[in-house]
Amino acid sequence: MLIQDYLFKLDNLQPIHPIILEMENIGKRLNFPILNRLSARLLSLISISNKAKYVFEIGSGFGYSAMWIAIYNEYLEKIYLTDYKSQNLEMAKEFFRVVGIENKLETYVGDGLKILEEIDIKFDLIFNDAEKKLYPKILEVAKKKLKIGGVFISDNTLWHNKVLDENENDEETLAIREFNEKIFSDRDFISSFIPIGDGLIISIKVL
Ligand SMILES: C[S@@+](CC[C@H](N)C(=O)[O-])C[C@H]1O[C@@H](n2cnc3c(N)ncnc32)[C@H](O)[C@@H]1O
Repeated sequence: MLIQDYLFKLDNLQPIHPIILEMENIGKRLNFPILNRLSARLLSLISISNKAKYVFEIGSGFGYSAMWIAIYNEYLEKIYLTDYKSQNLEMAKEFFRVVGIENKLETYVGDGLKILEEIDIKFDLIFNDAEKKLYPKILEVAKKKLKIGGVFISDNTLWHNKVLDENENDEETLAIREFNEKIFSDRDFISSFIPIGDGLIISIKVL
């Protein structure tokens, strides 16, 4: 058995909210790339352990990863979702409405990086699931918008294992490699690389 399969088998022993299952099914049906379930549970767990009240997400799709935070983290005051496509965010609003937590949601259509730059709030947690070439720039902006002790989580940091292969040098792989090295070299953060799903880097802002 592969490690990932074993981890999924264990994860399946835990209860799961029906809305999460419904969103996973819709993701499959629409062939929409939502966050890996193991990564989503870890994201949710960290938001709880950090007692995150204000959360920002760059690249929210129809709200699957955001839902994991919003339904399990009782400390949450507001979660800010961003996506280029208004129809994705309309779907997210509907899912939040169905579970009765739409009051925790703010949605912004457009480039999440620009929106984060402009918003006058310091966040407890920023989740980065944006287009890959923006990752190095997102690091600079996220750093300014996190509280000390805040957590910055980035998905796809293995980028389908392309970061490991020195013959892969397309724009997105180069951007992810640059991001990974930049964040691990940054003394304002303590970071850890979790090789589940497509790779998560979890970083705490310490300075
Ligand atoms: C992989 S999907 C993420 C889905 C979501 N995080 C989840 O796991 O359910 C990426 C989404 O991010 C959006 N996106 C990519 N770059 C973005 C950016 N800079 N600003 C806003 N949305 C972005 C895309 O439109 C797409 O819907």
